[in-house]
Amino acid sequence: MTNKEIVLSGIRPTGNLHLGNYFGAVKNFVKMQETNTCFFFIADYHSLTTHPNPRDLQSNVKQVLVEYLAVGLDPEKATLYLQSDLPETAELYLFLNMNAYMGELERVTTFKEKARQQPNNINAGLLTYPTLMAADIIIHKADKVPVGKDQEQNLEMTRTFARRFNNMYGTEFFPIPTAYNFGEQLVKIPGLDGSGKMGKSEGEGNAIFLNDDPKKLHKKVMRAVTDSGPTEMNQEKPEAIQNLFSLLKIVSKPDVVVYFNDQYNNCNIRYGDLKKQLAEDMITFTEPFREKIAGLSSNDDYLNRVMNIGAEKARESARKTIAEVRQIIGFRKYY
Ligand code: TYM
Repeated sequence: MTNKEIVLSGIRPTGNLHLGNYFGAVKNFVKMQETNTCFFFIADYHSLTTHPNPRDLQSNVKQVLVEYLAVGLDPEKATLYLQSDLPETAELYLFLNMNAYMGELERVTTFKEKARQQPNNINAGLLTYPTLMAADIIIHKADKVPVGKDQEQNLEMTRTFARRFNNMYGTEFFPIPTAYNFGEQLVKIPGLDGSGKMGKSEGEGNAIFLNDDPKKLHKKVMRAVTDSGPTEMNQEKPEAIQNLFSLLKIVSKPDVVVYFNDQYNNCNIRYGDLKKQLAEDMITFTEPFREKIAGLSSNDDYLNRVMNIGAEKARESARKTIAEVRQIIGFRKYY
């Protein structure tokens, strides 16, 4: 037994990883694997809410695994696995759903957003997305969950479901997990389209992917939304401009940020120059990832090995939890 804290997080296989995923979540995964007992998974059950075809699903799962490894996740340090390799998660999801109420599930912002975006596909999986997420987290009795700002409400739901289970059975079986970013606020990385966050489904050109080739990346940045420039000294930045500065802050050197900030404040800013610099710094930042992605993509044997080892380790932990949960609930013990 160790006293290390248990860390868990996951990403849906719905496309390549972008800078939002990286700075909101994966960067912390890489740091946390050094000192904690970590489980990082690919949320393929969750991706079924949008009905991917089997071939796309498989290639997207592979892509996330490749990118997990390319950014520095180490299968020797962290347990890397596929959600669907752990049917225990589905069993716990079923139990949690019995104590999850329509009213609270319907109020979740991401559910309301998705229902608006896909009015012809408001399926039960979308509604119960937070209970599946709770199952993912508590199946390993996780303490900390490194995620971006957009997952905060889902994490609140997990805390509610874990507490509810504990109260119902008069136990402290499940720890109450927290959304984690090294004591800092959770992060929201903006996109390039002028408003909101960087996301896979926010439209072409909004997201910079770790695997974007330099030419494409450059083009996307040069097309980012701007305005006609400040008209007064030290004017407050509108959202689209603030977003560019936020992106500059994460990939560029501090003196570069200071330089453009001064230019803005003095009304001398040339957005073309800022974007050029931003594109260059993004290309430099993503370069090592791109090289590793290319190398790993052709090594299916290795990728399969990583998945198999991860599945075994994750199942060992999940089986233990589920056996105890079944006993607490009052089911027959057959393990
Ligand atoms: P997903 O796949 O949408 O995103 C994966 C992670 O990336 C973070 N993220 C961002 N952070 C900052 N700025 C952004 N623009 C940005 N875009 C994405 C997300 O916050 C997330 O941490 N429901 C989850 C997957 C999941 C999960 C879990 C996570 C399923 N079960 C259990 C943690 C624990 C999701 O759809 O993330």
